[in-house]
Amino acid sequence: MTVASPSPALSAAGIIRAARAGGYALAAFNAVNLETAQAIVRAAEAAHAPVILQFSQNAARHGGLTQLAALGLSLKAQASVPVLLHFDHAEDEAVALEALNLGFDGVMLEGDDPATLRRLANAAHDSGSYFEAEYEVVVKGERSGERHDDPAHLAAFIRGSGCDILAVDIGSAHKQESKNAHLDFERLERLAELTTLPLVLHGASSVPLDALARAARLGVAKINLATDLTLAFTAAVRAALDGGAKDARQYLGAGRDAMQARAETYIRALGGADRA
Ligand code: G3H
Ligand code: ZN
Repeated sequence: MTVASPSPALSAAGIIRAARAGGYALAAFNAVNLETAQAIVRAAEAAHAPVILQFSQNAARHGGLTQLAALGLSLKAQASVPVLLHFDHAEDEAVALEALNLGFDGVMLEGDDPATLRRLANAAHDSGSYFEAEYEVVVKGERSGERHDDPAHLAAFIRGSGCDILAVDIGSAHKQESKNAHLDFERLERLAELTTLPLVLHGASSVPLDALARAARLGVAKINLATDLTLAFTAAVRAALDGGAKDARQYLGAGRDAMQARAETYIRALGGADRA
């Protein structure tokens, strides 16, 4: 089967827009170190897919934003497929600006202060990057986030924030170890009718693979995955240690291979294979 690929000259935002237009999603995987970042890029290369390599502010607290940016830029420069370097879940404007200055292709800010969102969108656009705003919060565990069903509210948010891509709540939750979430496809279809902007799904580890594939066809163009890949990585490291591995290259290598395999499964399910 032949599939339409985005032109190599596309900007980072253009690559995500091409996914929405083409009815597939870019997998956006979180990395925390060398091996997890390599797993993501290797999976994308194996599937000939564009991919989003993301580091969160939490990961930066552990590994250092400057060091993670250097790692991401280096992997991106040598990859045989488009790799978008994304700064995920920035908790304040200053760290998001720092990420843009370090060369991230896109940033996501938590929060809804209109003036802050607009300033960050402008800063992102000035550096040729894209801005992801959180229209609705995808919560952890108990649902408490507010949903907005007034079309005028959505239009005003998009205009006011200047965002390029939009995180919405259609029923997933962060940090879930089982895939029990039921996506609200009617709501997704309504949102996708109201805006042509690529939609973003957070908390995708909580969602079965076939539902993610359906969401990708309906307008979700960036699908964030961390927990499920972390579990795959850690299980393989644990098995390697239980098997007597002593050298970090052995057990971290086992984790990297397992995470790469899991990432490739997601990329293929979301329709990203052979789009690079
Ligand atoms: O921003 C990161 C993702 O939303 C992670 O979601 O915990 O379901 O893997 P997850
Ligand atoms: Zn998230």
